[in-house]
Amino acid sequence: MILEVKNLSKSFGNTVVFEDISFSVNKGEIVCVKGKSGEGKTTMLRCINKLETPDKGSIKINERYLCREEDNKMHYASKDELQTITQDIGLVFQSFNLFPHMTVMENLIESPMFIRKMPKEKIKQRAYELIKQLELEGKEDNYPYQLSGGQKQRVAIARACMLNPSILCFDEPTSALDESTRNQITKIIRDLAKQGIAIIIVTHDNNFVDEIAETVITLSEGNIIISKSNQP
Ligand SMILES: Nc1ncnc2c1ncn2[C@@H]1O[C@H](COP(=O)(O)OP(=O)(O)O)[C@@H](O)[C@H]1O
Ligand SMILES: [Mg+2]
Repeated sequence: MILEVKNLSKSFGNTVVFEDISFSVNKGEIVCVKGKSGEGKTTMLRCINKLETPDKGSIKINERYLCREEDNKMHYASKDELQTITQDIGLVFQSFNLFPHMTVMENLIESPMFIRKMPKEKIKQRAYELIKQLELEGKEDNYPYQLSGGQKQRVAIARACMLNPSILCFDEPTSALDESTRNQITKIIRDLAKQGIAIIIVTHDNNFVDEIAETVITLSEGNIIISKSNQP
């Protein structure tokens, strides 16, 4: 098991977003989180990625706790632990969040150069591998504004994969895509899962869920329902 979420709760002031939710994700599993707008899908993803702080419960990634509740008290990972844990999880934002003033290559190497004391050549080598895998060859020196929506998304995926995460999260990956780009993203996500990466996709796109999900988590009024889909 790569990710284990137990009894997680999150409120903003008086607004309860979700309460006491538990689920887990295995290596190579594709999990879709669906639900109407405002049900808390993005907030849940942000909690797992340490961009939001849960009020209660625990999140365990590869046997390390991002947060843990014990005797009614929350314990959060220390700064050092956090760096290790967050390298294990990648997030592809709904609006991709590429650095607009940086080329594709610069977008890919920026964070690894900052985080890891790895030689620049090694990092660049990894970037070229991903550029090839995501069919972005020839785009290394382009800026985000020179790319199509599908290409920007693939750069965002490559960037999230730079440090070899065990989990990759996507927030509404199909919302900005046309039909053919959508088929491309379906294939890319399946390939990543085949490599053993656990995939969590937040979406309100039911057709996409039917197409790709092995496990479906439905968020509704702060609770979740977990179901297995009939995907092979
Ligand atoms: N930073 C925030 N401060 C206050 N309320 C927030 C914040 N982020 C999200 N919310 C509220 O939490 C609820 C869930 O939002 P969100 O997770 O974005 O839903 P979804 O992604 O399912 O559309 C909404 O009611 C939203 O207004
Ligand atoms: Mg959302």
